[in-house]
Amino acid sequence: MNQPIIELKSVTKSFGPVNVLKGIDFTAHEGRVTALVGDNGAGKSTLIKGLAGVQPYDGGEVLFEGEPVHLHHPRDASRHGIEVVYQDLALCDNLDIVQNMFLGREEMATGAFDEGRMEVEAAAALQSLNVRTVSSLRQKVASLSGGQRQTVAIARAVVKQARVVILDEPTAALGVAQTEQVLNLVRRLADNGVAVVIISHNLQDVFQVADDISVLYLGSMTARLRREDTNADDVVGYITGTKSMEAMA
Ligand SMILES: Nc1ncnc2c1ncn2[C@@H]1O[C@H](COP(=O)(O)OP(=O)(O)O)[C@@H](O)[C@H]1O
Ligand SMILES: [Mg+2]
Repeated sequence: MNQPIIELKSVTKSFGPVNVLKGIDFTAHEGRVTALVGDNGAGKSTLIKGLAGVQPYDGGEVLFEGEPVHLHHPRDASRHGIEVVYQDLALCDNLDIVQNMFLGREEMATGAFDEGRMEVEAAAALQSLNVRTVSSLRQKVASLSGGQRQTVAIARAVVKQARVVILDEPTAALGVAQTEQVLNLVRRLADNGVAVVIISHNLQDVFQVADDISVLYLGSMTARLRREDTNADDVVGYITGTKSMEAMA
């Protein structure tokens, strides 16, 4: 495989005496979906918060396109095009779809983005993801379904021209049809060249959408697998700790 856009080498994180990340190696590649799986408490969110710059790692190295970088603040992550879509989505119900996609953008405050331009870019982002389930960009987000809300949150990363998009359990609250829609979006995002990292508990989703699967077990990365080289039984074994250590060839 070509050079990863993100590479973590032996990253560590402790909270007091508790070592939550015990020297983690991890990679994400442009154009690929990497699933990050592991039981509750394995360290998935902690790993992601380090990449987002909200809770920096204590040790180890982060390489971006092969160069060491410091992710000490969310703006460090943003500068590198790393965007996280958190489970709560952080959308404002009282604002419409376009406003949500540009929420917090400096261009709005400085007047560099007018409503017309924002609407055009929002439409382009949704089109790039093949979204046909949103009838009006001027709907308030409060009126949207769970799947549509997830769509808006993902499209927001697209308008920011994110190169790495990390999704924390994007289908956890969705029914079958909406899950299918969101997984299609995830695939589309990767096909557009983005490196996608998806945290999921649902192995059916993982096997449907992921190219690579990384398994965290009690703060250690116990397996890094290609989807075509593994199966759900294997992955369950790594998640529960009955199997251990398999590196990607
Ligand atoms: N801010 C924190 N302070 C103390 N312990 C924490 C903190 N954040 C996470 N932990 C602990 O780190 C471990 C991993 O948590 P987390 O990364 O949330 O796991 P996951 O997302 O895989 O469920 C858990 O044992 C959790 O209790
Ligand atoms: Mg978590």
